[in-house]
This record gives sequence, C-alpha cells and structure tokens, in this order.
Amino acid sequence: MRIDIVSIFPEYLAPLGLSLVGKAQQVGLLEVHAHELRQWTHDRHRTVDDTPYGGGAGMVMRPEPWGEALDALAPADAEPPPRLLVMTPSGRRFDQRLAEELAGEPWLLFACARYEGLDQRVVDHAAARMPVDDVSIGDYVLNGGEAAALVVIETVVRLLPGFLGNPESLREESHSTGERGGLLEYPLYTKPAEWRGLRVPEVLLSGHHGQVARWRRDQALRRTAQRRPDLIDRLRDDLDPADLDALDRPED
Ligand code: ADE
Repeated sequence: MRIDIVSIFPEYLAPLGLSLVGKAQQVGLLEVHAHELRQWTHDRHRTVDDTPYGGGAGMVMRPEPWGEALDALAPADAEPPPRLLVMTPSGRRFDQRLAEELAGEPWLLFACARYEGLDQRVVDHAAARMPVDDVSIGDYVLNGGEAAALVVIETVVRLLPGFLGNPESLREESHSTGERGGLLEYPLYTKPAEWRGLRVPEVLLSGHHGQVARWRRDQALRRTAQRRPDLIDRLRDDLDPADLDALDRPED
C-alpha cells in the first residue's frame, strides 16, 4: 500500500516511522510520504488560509495550494487514482468496517486540514477524478487532521496481509467484524493465576475449551451491553438464545 499525506505540519506524522507501522515500511509492505502543503504556495508569506466568504469566525484553507498538491500527487492520468480521505469533524464516522474497506485499497491520499477546514471546491474538483471521502474519527474537534490521519493509518495498516505476526489476533479483538461480530472484547488475564489476592476466573484455568468459549462470549456480551448498548441494539437480530440468556442473567 502507498500512503501520501498532505499537511502544513508534516513533522506531525513522524510517529509513522516508529513501531510496527515503521517496520511495515522497512519490509516493503507500506510506503508513506508526508508532504508539506506550503511547497505549493507562491507568495512570499506562503499563505494557505484566508477569511471565509459570508463572514464568520476562523480561517478557511485556500483552494490553490490544495489544487496544486492534488495535481502533483495524483496526476490526471494516474490509473487507478488514489482514494482521497479528507480529515474533518464533519465527515463520515471512521470505524472498523471502513478500516477494512480501506485496507483493500492500493493507494490512499490524506488531506489534513487546519483552521476551519478546506474550501469546498477542492473536494468537489477532486471528486471528478478520484474517489473522495470526508472522514471524522469521532464526535469531537481536533486542531487539525494530522492526529486523525495517524489514527486511521494505524488502524488500516495493521489489517494489511502480512502485517501482524499472528493474524488470528485480529479475529478476537473489539469491533472486529469477524466471528465475534462487533462485540467488545472479553476481559483478558495472564500469569500469575493469583495476584494481590485476585484470582483469574477458574474457568480459564480449566482447560475446557467449550466452557472457555462460552464464558468469553458471555463476558463480551455483558461488557458490550453495559458499555455500548448501541452496539447490542444493532446486533440483537444475530444473537442466539444462549446469548440472550447471558444478557438476562446477572453476573455469576
Ligand atoms: N479534524 C478536526 N477534528 C477532526 C475529527 N474529529 N476527525 C477528523 N479530522 C478532524
């Protein structure tokens, strides 16, 4: 996968060189290029923003540097073109399902806006020649799209085939769309079996795989019902009688 990121603070993206995402680049699974938007300005002050037409607070990013950036990074004859992701709190909500979709793309181009956002014509013009999504990582406002792009990139890159040593771990975790189907993850324990007077639940020490699986599913169901009732409501039609029983039974 190739990832290009345009920002007025490309240094903000330095963490992509670290840890597993950094390693993915070293082994050739991933190519990341962060670009400074101001290289596509032409005035002495390297201006990227201006006051909004129609009035109002804050500044809007001018279209010209963004237009030139997109022309340079995704020329009209690029086949296939990249998928452009404009990071904005007014975008569609990023989730594991979108991450899985993006992990199948060969080329992602992130536009990280600052100030109040981009001139809308940048997005409208780009949409004529490449797929474009406005993407938000949650219902809160960051100072810019860079931290949001880091979140999206880390989530997507760990889904790339060959990225995780043990791809099984993807199937069990919270929000995975695999067999646990969008429940939060069950509680985890490791050695020692007793720590500060607290014992690991006996069923996990029993070696009885069937009982362990049932216990984990019950825990995942209860935890999800408690912390994220919205997720349970969405899944309700897919739950079997044993699942519904776990939700009705108080904790044993
Ligand atoms: N830029 C500012 N806030 C954001 C958010 N919540 N998601 C994506 N980009 C943003």
